[in-house]
Amino acid sequence: MAKLSVQERVFVAATAFLAVLLIVYLFLSHFYLDYKILLLFGLLSFAAENLGVELPQGGSVSVSSTVILATVVIFGPLFAALTSIFNAVVWRDIKEKNSPYRWIFNGSEGVITTGCSGLIYLAVGGRILLNTSGLNSKNIPHLLIPIILMAVSYFLLNTSLVSLIIAVGKKTSPIGVWRSNVLWAIPNYFVLMILSLVMIQIYVTIGTAGLILMIVPLLIARQAFQIYLRLKSAYMGTVEALVAALEAKDPYTSGHSERVATLAEKIGRQMQLGPTAINTIRNAGILHDIGKIGISRSILRNPGKLTDEEYLRMQKHPESGALILQEIKFMEKIVPVVFHHHEKVDGSGYIDGFKGDEIPLYSRILAVADAFDAMTSPRPYRPAMDPLVACRELIDCSGTQFDGNIVDHFIKAMGFQLSKDIGDVLQGQLNLDEFKTVKNCNR
Ligand SMILES: [Fe+2]
Ligand SMILES: [Fe+2]
Repeated sequence: MAKLSVQERVFVAATAFLAVLLIVYLFLSHFYLDYKILLLFGLLSFAAENLGVELPQGGSVSVSSTVILATVVIFGPLFAALTSIFNAVVWRDIKEKNSPYRWIFNGSEGVITTGCSGLIYLAVGGRILLNTSGLNSKNIPHLLIPIILMAVSYFLLNTSLVSLIIAVGKKTSPIGVWRSNVLWAIPNYFVLMILSLVMIQIYVTIGTAGLILMIVPLLIARQAFQIYLRLKSAYMGTVEALVAALEAKDPYTSGHSERVATLAEKIGRQMQLGPTAINTIRNAGILHDIGKIGISRSILRNPGKLTDEEYLRMQKHPESGALILQEIKFMEKIVPVVFHHHEKVDGSGYIDGFKGDEIPLYSRILAVADAFDAMTSPRPYRPAMDPLVACRELIDCSGTQFDGNIVDHFIKAMGFQLSKDIGDVLQGQLNLDEFKTVKNCNR
């Protein structure tokens, strides 16, 4: 948010205006407020937000939502809304010299989200638990639904407002932003909600000392999570270095892995697969040919026909790739995808000769992306194929080599018009003969 557009400024100003109105309303409604305890919870929430762990694909996970959700139930909406303001400024924003508009938006968004979900909690029968014996077998059946509704409204308001400001900034659809940035976080959020129930109980029954007791396991959990993320990125770094080493062996396939990953991802998005699936497909795309690392340079660079022995060696690469990847815990989902990426739907492929749906879906997606990139990249023994002609090849091989449904999605994802663009090829307006020699390009 370094340079804000007029629309973004208007959006931030409107959010701030609504937040001020809400705070005034909550003050006038005489909800509970104790400034000393507010400072304690505010600092706790600030610390939780600033100790958040940054995720490799952007964004971060912090337990500040746990503190905020707990304050709604313990102290009510005014206290909770004011606590959330402590999260407005994070150390990262200061370090990156982010615009103060970002702080204003964060603070206002926190007030609206927390204040409104607190009001919803009370409106559906929730009770403020300060000076009570906390959650017990008698009140849990009455409080569970209000707590769940409060947590759901908090989640929806928070993610909707954040998606809206991103969408205004990027001039894109807020629903698209929400889908790609938020869906994956739902399980995390569920865990944070359970933690907030624990925090409510500890504070109401033990008091401030209980909060300190709770912070220690949270810090240990944070440390463990951070180590896990570092290990994961170290493994990914190693495997990516292997891909770079493989591509350095054969300059003609340079960039192939990344292009296949991008094409496969496009197909996955066109098929409306979820973010976890897209992530798996992307990783499988980058690593699908990693098994070629053990194949000699002379075979990889051979411009002519391979001998039977060389061809057999080449056919082993999906198996070798799966063997490399199965040693890595984080890669277990992509092992079968890599293993089967040269299967053909008529059963004539390798390694297992699987047919149709027996072949994992992501492997069928990779097969289309892999073949398209292989055909449209130049080789020492032939020029690069025109993309439309390559599409025609994919269509011709649908039902034998490729899954026809996936080829359809691919053509749509690439923005080709089957009737207009590829129709020209089908009607012979492009010369196919020069490409006949590359029919079996996907070796
Ligand atoms: Fe391959
Ligand atoms: Fe490949």
